[in-house]
Amino acid sequence: MDRRQFLQAVALLTGLPFEAISHWEHPSPFPPPETEEDFWRWVRSEFPLHPSLINLNNGGVSPHPRSVIEALFRLELAANEAPVYTMWRLQDQKEPIRRRLAAIGGADPEEIAIVRNSTEALETVIFGLSLKAGDEVIAAESDYPSMIAAWKQREQRDRIKVKWVRLPLPSDEPERLIAPYLEALTPRTRVIHLTHLINWTGQIVPVEGVIAEAQKREIFTIVDAAHSYAHIPLDFHSMGCDAAGVSLHKWLCAPFGTGLLYVKRERIKDIWPLFAAPPERKVDDIRKFEHLGTRSIPTEQAIAAAIEFHEQIGLTRKTQRLKALREYWLSRALHLPKIRSLTPTKWAGGIATIQVEGWSPQRLADHLLEKHRIIVAAIEWMGLQGIRIAPHVYTTYAELDELLESLHSL
Ligand SMILES: Cc1ncc(COP(=O)(O)O)c(C=O)c1O
Repeated sequence: MDRRQFLQAVALLTGLPFEAISHWEHPSPFPPPETEEDFWRWVRSEFPLHPSLINLNNGGVSPHPRSVIEALFRLELAANEAPVYTMWRLQDQKEPIRRRLAAIGGADPEEIAIVRNSTEALETVIFGLSLKAGDEVIAAESDYPSMIAAWKQREQRDRIKVKWVRLPLPSDEPERLIAPYLEALTPRTRVIHLTHLINWTGQIVPVEGVIAEAQKREIFTIVDAAHSYAHIPLDFHSMGCDAAGVSLHKWLCAPFGTGLLYVKRERIKDIWPLFAAPPERKVDDIRKFEHLGTRSIPTEQAIAAAIEFHEQIGLTRKTQRLKALREYWLSRALHLPKIRSLTPTKWAGGIATIQVEGWSPQRLADHLLEKHRIIVAAIEWMGLQGIRIAPHVYTTYAELDELLESLHSL
């Protein structure tokens, strides 16, 4: 069922005229922008933001634009009319969304499973790979805590060995970032787990260099792309990884609880699904990872509206904007005394973390919220102490000026 047929079915079920709903799931048309800032003002106007808060923590989860909220709302209404029919039979059409998600990530649709978040995607692979006692896995201390916990659980349960490498953060030198992984390789290495864009500091890791070496040795590579999809250029095929996990509720602005699992076609058969698929499902079918039981189909289907919004901006423009916002506030903040950056200059996207001498991260984050109504993330990890600033497409330079003003007043 294509989008038009689907909307016709919704019109039939809800009794609304087709013309009235045919524009749903599309952001409102923006007036021809006179300047680049007009365009971004339009983008901002699509988000129903809190009137007196400045949200600079879009790293954990992002708000979604009005078109996504509307899609969610009307899909929820239609789903509730007779869920077994309107939700399961009419709405549950994953294929068009799979195709569009694949196109954004440089993958084949047959390599994309729609899941709930990066945790589900990555842990499907971490627990689904066949490994035996003595097999080695390389991961980094800077990987996301849930993935570290998953590997540690696997270590205890199956007596595999995980070697934890420490990356020289921050760094703009690809060779130095790759070296710890290569140094940890042994003939027993079976898997390398890599984080593409590190959540603590915004560091981008040149994972391709590690993957190329892993491929020569037939080592399985998993990429945590939670923060890179729809944020910086990302192409799973040219990256070469065997599997990857993404949260769509971060930089794509899709509904909360949406993610994707990428698995290279020839590797699908090597991974057990976390929730067993029915016997008729072929072992090399990516859909075997989607047998979760009942879940919210409106939530999944509203991903289409987020894709629409993302494409209306365009990845290149979005990446440039996010980097420009970061460079704007960071370069000015670094002129203030007692502030240092924990983020590299070149190998970064829109996220950056700064350390402010004399302030513990949590105390500073609390101060910014209570005194200035600015939300940031407190980062305390491996001796790094700072606040992480993660603007999004709706962030204005005026908001960043307020951040700078508040840092100045410290
Ligand atoms: C690097 C990284 N990986 C994985 C995750 C987990 O994402 P989710 O909570 O959507 O599963 C996050 C969340 O912030 C993250 O930053």
